Amino acid sequence: MTRIEAQHLAHLSALDDAYADKLGRYGYDGVVIYSGHAHLHFGDDHAGSFASFGHFLHWVPLAGTQHSWLLIRPGHRPVLQWHMPQDFWHLSTPVPDEAWVKHFDIIESNASSPPSLPPGRYALLGDVPSEQAQSMGVELNPEQLWIALDELRVRKSPYEVACLREANGLAMAGHQAARDAFEGGAAELDIQLAYLAASRQRETEVPYQNIVGRNEHAGVLHYQHYDIRPAERRYSLLVDAGHRSRGYCADITRTWSGHDSDVRFQALLEGMNALQQNLVRRIAPGVHFVDLHWQMHEQLGRLLKEQGLIDCSVEAAIEQGVTYAFCPHGLGHLLGLQVHDVGGRRGPDGTALPPPDRAPALRLTRELETGMVVTIEPGCYFIPMLLAPLRETKVAHDIHWEAIDALTSHGGIRVEDNVHVTETAYENLTPSAD
Ligand code: GLY
Ligand code: MN
Ligand code: MN
Repeated sequence: MTRIEAQHLAHLSALDDAYADKLGRYGYDGVVIYSGHAHLHFGDDHAGSFASFGHFLHWVPLAGTQHSWLLIRPGHRPVLQWHMPQDFWHLSTPVPDEAWVKHFDIIESNASSPPSLPPGRYALLGDVPSEQAQSMGVELNPEQLWIALDELRVRKSPYEVACLREANGLAMAGHQAARDAFEGGAAELDIQLAYLAASRQRETEVPYQNIVGRNEHAGVLHYQHYDIRPAERRYSLLVDAGHRSRGYCADITRTWSGHDSDVRFQALLEGMNALQQNLVRRIAPGVHFVDLHWQMHEQLGRLLKEQGLIDCSVEAAIEQGVTYAFCPHGLGHLLGLQVHDVGGRRGPDGTALPPPDRAPALRLTRELETGMVVTIEPGCYFIPMLLAPLRETKVAHDIHWEAIDALTSHGGIRVEDNVHVTETAYENLTPSAD
């Protein structure tokens, strides 16, 4: 048995106990979890790409599996009803020769209908119409149980950390190939293809659509296109792209300067790389992520001052929303079976922890705990629609608009690593680029 197979078995045995505890607490005899399935485009017989439901993947490493069901009943072996249609159009995935398989009673099913349930009170979690849940006599997606099961995904087991580490290694091979393609003058689409080839994945399998933005596109936070022609000038490239390993997601961003890059951009990029590592080094159990988010704003304010982009104090830059205009997103989020993983805006007891009014996009508002895996992704962008309103405020004369106008063609910078909170500090799961 390989190390990861042994870790998976330990993970499953801990899940058996944790589910028994939660189901007992809310008075259920069991829970049915549906993998989900791809929905057809309207009026068409083709479907878009598909990601299996996170609570399904928490048990089985079957990302992309559809029409399949888990039945979890405390005191009984878990049942996996695996959709394997007798179908000459497609090839069913064979049951792998891996240790985790023996933890389940596996039913290979030609049908996509749910498993039959022994008498009892059941919850059903998944993307299922309410009429179907009603006909099964189950409670569909009950909120309290849902929140409790989300909480089980917040602190990762050694198996999950190993999957995330592997996903990071493969993603970094893609980032290195992307950088080389950029340096060779490739267009965004060719950089994307180089990334996919080196990270050994197809476009429908990536955990989120890769962001490959050169020059001003680097300043569009979730830029979604790929130019097919190379740019005439090479100022910058931002690549935010990941990988899935056994369902677990890497989410890494690197920004590179190009040979037409302004020297101030290169200095800013160096400063952002150092700032990001400085924030990573602060990770430890007990640190509040909202505090870390404000530390990012303080450090960003200092960097903007050092680079001669603003004159006001760091406090005033934060207070007047100047740092927000340069970085409107949060410092990071939980990472796991989903890129923006569940449970980031609740306390350990399930109470809602909404983001502060001045950080509405922050997806992680809780204290760090051993076992969490988070992203640390500070950014600094030149986004005309966010900076323009500052020209009308009293801080306008503290901002060096000429310098900013010269940098707008470079789009922006984001640097993102995936970090595991250990018992005393942290482990950066993202290998360095070289
Ligand atoms: N790739 C999306 C994010 O960084 O949150
Ligand atoms: Mn992220
Ligand atoms: Mn990202």
